[in-house]
Amino acid sequence: MDGAESSARKILSSLRSIGRIHNPESYDPSVFLSLLDHQSRDVRREAVKQLGKFRGESIRKALTALYVSDRSTEVKRECVSSLGRQRSEELIPFFRRVITSPDPKIVIQAIQALLVFRADDSVLNELAPLDSHPNEMVRDYIAIELHGRQRGNDPDHAAVDGRLQDVVVEGDVRDILVHIRASAFHLVFTSPPYYNARDYSLYPSYRAYLEFLRDVFREVHRLTKDGRFLVVNSSPIILPRPNRQHASRRYPIPFDIHHFLVKDGWDFIDDLVWRKPDFSVKNRVGGFLQHRKPLGYKPNTVTEYLMVYRRKSPRLPDWNMRQYDDEVLNASKVTGAFESTNVWEIDPVSDKTHSAVFPPALCERVIRYYSMLGDLVFDPFGGSGTVAAVAHSLGRRFFLTELSAEYVARIRARVPVHTRFLSVSDINASMR
Ligand SMILES: C[S@@+](CC[C@H](N)C(=O)[O-])C[C@H]1O[C@@H](n2cnc3c(N)ncnc32)[C@H](O)[C@@H]1O
Repeated sequence: MDGAESSARKILSSLRSIGRIHNPESYDPSVFLSLLDHQSRDVRREAVKQLGKFRGESIRKALTALYVSDRSTEVKRECVSSLGRQRSEELIPFFRRVITSPDPKIVIQAIQALLVFRADDSVLNELAPLDSHPNEMVRDYIAIELHGRQRGNDPDHAAVDGRLQDVVVEGDVRDILVHIRASAFHLVFTSPPYYNARDYSLYPSYRAYLEFLRDVFREVHRLTKDGRFLVVNSSPIILPRPNRQHASRRYPIPFDIHHFLVKDGWDFIDDLVWRKPDFSVKNRVGGFLQHRKPLGYKPNTVTEYLMVYRRKSPRLPDWNMRQYDDEVLNASKVTGAFESTNVWEIDPVSDKTHSAVFPPALCERVIRYYSMLGDLVFDPFGGSGTVAAVAHSLGRRFFLTELSAEYVARIRARVPVHTRFLSVSDINASMR
């Protein structure tokens, strides 16, 4: 460490040890002002931070000048933040210039500073066009600040439409969902049919398959309550080669689904990885084990994804939580051990009727982490009914759709006796 670096470190550590200055009047800001041209970026930034606690023209002048002259983005950001804390009308023209910065973080800080003067129409007029800003964070910030974070309560949020409660409908999900009114479900958890990999899923092309799923998930979006979650389990699949002259083909299903979900009004939240034990999956690595030739490497696939999305909302999840009585919220708490990483190690299970079922342990986690007691959980591709059985065991209600009569019969054997089994025309009649 050279002398300059060691001296910068010492200054930095004393600046940081100052911590919060509760009564800035008793301090002399000149010591901080003198550090604004220090060669260390970290020292300059820390000095700017401390100066944010003081008011006065000399501070404003020094920080606006530094914002213009400093080459470090970090220092510039700190300048805008400290100047914002001044809440000075004199700085309005400065912030108007700053909102044209190429750094979205700085633009948002400047918007925040200008919003202090939102009573001034000219300030609001200046901010309004930013709702078409090229950066998505800026657009979202403006949408929420100008068009309102909806703070009021929604008495229907925690409610369940009794006509959909503990119901299984046999038919094509697309024919069923059109009969249901918007905002019906609290959580949607599903595993879509695999593309042409099982007998229940034949589509003329991969494009047609993705379009089918897109149609379904658009409806799911309409039917999901504000700010609630959609969890989609899928994995890339491989279709074997017709013969040795051709290659097998791999389809990246979760990534292609992701692409349209985020366009269609879902915010991406998390990618959970379901890891299965090595022995439980198909062996693909055997050939490589023998020949060891590069380009011929094919690992065994021991994972599937659970992609977690939240229906886009100006409200934060805290708002969703506040829509429940304290009693429900407390009883829904995830007590005891819980999974703290995004890699969930769970053994797959097999079913005598269905070839691709959820392990109940997987459903349990999703339902406990993403819904409240009494919520209505929907699985559009119900299969053998694991989501229904687990939802019921966890004090939630369920709504399932499933195309195959054979699988609906399997569901019947797993769900509580009060479950209502309906046809497409029954649901149509009951929802009118
Ligand atoms: C991967 S499986 C779901 C298995 C389920 N998660 C379980 O634990 O049993 C997908 C299911 O979607 C059903 N399906 C396929 N196309 C459908 C459609 N258009 N409407 C409703 N269900 C459909 C299939 O019959 C299949 O049972």
